[in-house]
Amino acid sequence: MERLGFALWCWSVALVLVLSPRTGANPGAMKLRKLCKFCDVQATSCSGVGRCHAECEITSICPHVDDVCVSIWRKDGSNMTIDTICHNPAHKLLDLVLDDYNNSKCEMREKKGMGVQFFICSCSEEECNEHIYFTPYRLDSQVVPVVLVSLVPLLVLTVLVITSFYIYRVYRQRNAGPMHKKGAPLDYNDDHAIIMDDKGSDSSSMQANNLNHNTELLPIELDSQVGKGRFAEVYKAKLKQGSSVGEQPFETVAVKIFQDEEHASWKNEKDIFSDADLRHENVLHFLTAEERKAQKQYWLITAYHPWGNLQEYLTRHIISWQDLWVLGGSLARGVAHLHSDRTLCGRYKVPIVHRDIKSSNILVKNDLTCCLCDFGLGLRLDNSLSVDELANSGQVGTARYMAPEVLESRINLENIESFKQTDVYSMALVLWEITSRCNAIGEVKEYEPPFGKVREHPCVESMKDSVLRDRGRPEIPDSWINHPGIQIVCGTIDECWDHDPEARLTAHCVAERFGDMEHLDKLSSHSDAEEKTTPAEISAADEK
Ligand code: ADE
Repeated sequence: MERLGFALWCWSVALVLVLSPRTGANPGAMKLRKLCKFCDVQATSCSGVGRCHAECEITSICPHVDDVCVSIWRKDGSNMTIDTICHNPAHKLLDLVLDDYNNSKCEMREKKGMGVQFFICSCSEEECNEHIYFTPYRLDSQVVPVVLVSLVPLLVLTVLVITSFYIYRVYRQRNAGPMHKKGAPLDYNDDHAIIMDDKGSDSSSMQANNLNHNTELLPIELDSQVGKGRFAEVYKAKLKQGSSVGEQPFETVAVKIFQDEEHASWKNEKDIFSDADLRHENVLHFLTAEERKAQKQYWLITAYHPWGNLQEYLTRHIISWQDLWVLGGSLARGVAHLHSDRTLCGRYKVPIVHRDIKSSNILVKNDLTCCLCDFGLGLRLDNSLSVDELANSGQVGTARYMAPEVLESRINLENIESFKQTDVYSMALVLWEITSRCNAIGEVKEYEPPFGKVREHPCVESMKDSVLRDRGRPEIPDSWINHPGIQIVCGTIDECWDHDPEARLTAHCVAERFGDMEHLDKLSSHSDAEEKTTPAEISAADEK
């Protein structure tokens, strides 16, 4: 009651002060006493979180000009109370210094050691202790060191583990290439390798496009030349491995070397090979591409196949029906994979056209399957290609193997299938070459390329005469088709070199036809064919 009386007195004094004219006084010099909520202790529903209302109906003019508004919230068991008062911050309140009284809002701060849960705030705006704010949970001053003490060793340990792992990797890389230190026959130190991304996981370098974060060039020692194309030369080479002590283990690889002027061709082939979706057992296995700046050369490093290309193989060997079936089927599967917009797992892939399919651009693997190589003229048929870009890609390929529509530059650029159909035509000529050397056709003549040996490299004009004007195709004598398998193969060839591109079979369909002929395997055996000369014997004979 006493306090209520005091408050009423304050209130009347305030009215007098507010209403009385301040004549003759300097308003700037006069310090007014504050209006604050002043209910002393009362029960509250405020639970000490967020924003609360003090629930005090009494506003007082503070007794002293220096007084500020103060609120105190306490919780003792389940009892919660709020004090709203005026207080001069020059003096301690409950043994506490008010250090936040310049605030315009009353922001509660917890004080420990008060016996109960205790929050206090002070502020200087009129009635500012009516609304009180409990700040979100802050880390207690004791919690911070505890968290720091437990986290710092963990952080130090993590940094240590990462650093050791990094040092170990660097050490391994240094040791992996002894040629780096001992002085390699090829200067690769001032060059940098172009490294292909890879989705594979095998650590062998023979797994194409393996992720190789090494920015140094591979330790490669060139051996003999095994091929020469329009834009590049191919070498058999040793890819060195392991430690420098004693005889060095190596892997045989093929290196296709482009001179400076052929950079565009190297880049095109590298870009095609870099697509990991190209990988297939019937496509040459790509390892990496390198810029050998010191020698002004560009390299493509791939798997090496001792049998060499299919033209060389057919020149040297008469094959059995089974060989034909293996060679032809694998060729069709390689082309079908290239053309397909699906990987073997059914994911989308960019279809690719080769545009230079011929027997010298196909390699023979040890199991007598084919793999496609030389993608220098390859084209990725991605959706972004415009008709103009396709048109500018020009009349490319080897005249002997060019489809009629390529010879007369009349490809339907609106339809990407047209490019695939030109590949199928060229593939038909290769299938004919394979068949011409198979003992199941009867008498086997010496190897001859399709359209004969008229000239080593017939020009476009002479091919136009044969293929367009005369509608000529390599001959399929009746005597060939006594064998049921050869009959199907020749029927397939005929459908693939049709003058009308749209009438041609797809490579996928050709691959299926070969698959369906598996039962004909038993008709003739491997031993029907002549004994194969091994690649080593071939090189020995060549050296004589
Ligand atoms: N001729 C061209 N490329 C070749 C390769 N990768 N292996 C063997 N001979 C080749």
